[in-house]
Amino acid sequence: MAEATLGGSADSVSFEEAGLRYEVDGEIATITLDRPDKRNAQTFATWSALARIGDDLPEQVRIVVIQGEGPSFSAGIDLRMFTPEGVPGQGSFSSAAQLDEKSFEQRIEQAQQGFLWLRRPEIVSIAAVHGHAIGAGFQLALACDLRIVADDVKFCMKEPALGLVPDLTGTKPLVDLVGTAKAIDICLTARVVGAEEAFRIGLAERVVSRGGLAQAVQEKAAELLSTDRDAATATKRLLQGARGRTLEEQAAAERIEQKARIKALFAGS
Ligand code: ACO
Repeated sequence: MAEATLGGSADSVSFEEAGLRYEVDGEIATITLDRPDKRNAQTFATWSALARIGDDLPEQVRIVVIQGEGPSFSAGIDLRMFTPEGVPGQGSFSSAAQLDEKSFEQRIEQAQQGFLWLRRPEIVSIAAVHGHAIGAGFQLALACDLRIVADDVKFCMKEPALGLVPDLTGTKPLVDLVGTAKAIDICLTARVVGAEEAFRIGLAERVVSRGGLAQAVQEKAAELLSTDRDAATATKRLLQGARGRTLEEQAAAERIEQKARIKALFAGS
């Protein structure tokens, strides 16, 4: 029964049904949240489709841009999940509450797969965020390596206000970016973080006008593509591991990556 599987049939839907557009142009892939009439609300089908994009990403892609169509980046999870009827074919929180522990956890893990691949060392993911980025919308922006925002951006971690926790992989990047105290402030008040604050606390790399967002993202993509592909991948891997290592361990990791680079560049010359 579809209701009891919390999105069991979501895996096979088209990108359009999942509320996404997806285009690859050379080294740049662009994912557009494309349900503007519903403020790009996200469903399990959206997350399955995102995971599929990650699984099938062409090898040449180095930059992944995520953006939203219409007035908002994303108003978060589809609120029909809170109703007894749920999202057709994808269940509801009520049906989820009936699942056995293992299936329930697997379903959340499946949803998280839509987000986790955006941190792969081989790519740099950029969220181009304007308007509301609420709940799952905020977490999708946090799943990306960089956030370039419009001056009308409104981040809000609404989950605690609705009795939930943020579980779409957003808590760690938020803490890594702004620190535990600020993350507690933002999440436990569910308050809005605007562009000026987002820039000041390190949530956003750059703030531009709404009309300048696409160009700012293009410029950043061009800058990122100007460095050597394999060196960029190895460097991202190093940077991602840095917080979890001591200085000595990180120095050792640098040696390993550099040996591989120098061999690749100069062995045999
Ligand atoms: N799920 C489903 N539909 C939504 C959602 C949503 N999350 N957000 C907006 N919509 C729909 C509205 O129902 C409305 O549909 P209708 O035209 O058929 O009536 C349409 O999108 C436009 O919404 P408005 O509220 O009229 O748009 P507005 O621009 O005034 O406000 C805003 C935008 C602030 C985003 C508002 O829609 C809102 O607060 N949405 C809910 C946000 C939320 O609580 N999300 C859940 C967070 S928790 C999580 O993601 C896990």
